[in-house]
Amino acid sequence: MSTRPRTPAPGTPAPGKLPITELADLKARRQPITMVTAYDAPSGRLADEAGVDMVLVGDSAAMTVLGHDSTVPATMDEMIVLTRAVTRGARRPLVVADLPFGSYQVSDEEAIRNAIRFVKEAGADAVKLEGAGPMLSRVEGIVAAGVPVMGHIGLTPQTATMLGGFKAQGRSAEKAVRLMRDAFDLQAAGCFAIVLEAVPAVVAERISERLEIPTIGIGAGRGTDGQVLVWHDMLGLYDGHAPRFVKRYASLAGEITSALERYVADVREGHFPEQVHTYSMPEEELAEFEAAVGARLPVI
Ligand code: KIV
Repeated sequence: MSTRPRTPAPGTPAPGKLPITELADLKARRQPITMVTAYDAPSGRLADEAGVDMVLVGDSAAMTVLGHDSTVPATMDEMIVLTRAVTRGARRPLVVADLPFGSYQVSDEEAIRNAIRFVKEAGADAVKLEGAGPMLSRVEGIVAAGVPVMGHIGLTPQTATMLGGFKAQGRSAEKAVRLMRDAFDLQAAGCFAIVLEAVPAVVAERISERLEIPTIGIGAGRGTDGQVLVWHDMLGLYDGHAPRFVKRYASLAGEITSALERYVADVREGHFPEQVHTYSMPEEELAEFEAAVGARLPVI
């Protein structure tokens, strides 16, 4: 019996996995880093096949796949299931699991415990958390436990109420300086990359120029070191209102609805299934079957 594991142990990079250190090299070479969200195995595989560098299992799943109105209700257990599915599909891209609201705010210990769950139970390569300030000791603790952390500042959806809603951040000089400080603090705490969401392009560019670690922008212009988009937004799968920074690369909701409508019509009109979709049985077996069940109900 072979003792070689079929899949790498959690926390061990799989063969062909993009080394996390490569992200800094991409930044140095000014080669934009690509990231997209995904929530299941097929989308993880498709992102991998398309050459995406990082897949984020975002807590946006609460809205895109679980039907909530915000990201806040996402739970650790739900995120574990989704992340586990994505890591089965995505091999080369780094898979970053989003710590949901409530899973890291209470204490460093709880944050570390939940980050470790993502690695051990779901095969994540890294975790992401929102905010700076009180979150810096969370970052330090998780990194010290051996789990890479991605920061997230600017518009932080988990605490959008505190920010006055879903709106751009860092639009005054004072707030832009605050953002820059937060980014430096997160870098010093050990983050390997930082998401900048909904901040003025020029602020994101200045932060990105000054940081050593890569920035990944969403609604932050072209001056970041990489970009991230939400799967359902970019593919036109989510019927909610998409923010202005989303570019739609497909309109899959329309295609799916029209396919489903054709299926419904086919079934109702007797056009599906056709002969080619059905199984037959040998003539003599059929004759025997008919004889057995012929006039009376079969005795089972
Ligand atoms: O949850 C998510 O999808 C995110 C991205 C918007 C960065 O955090």
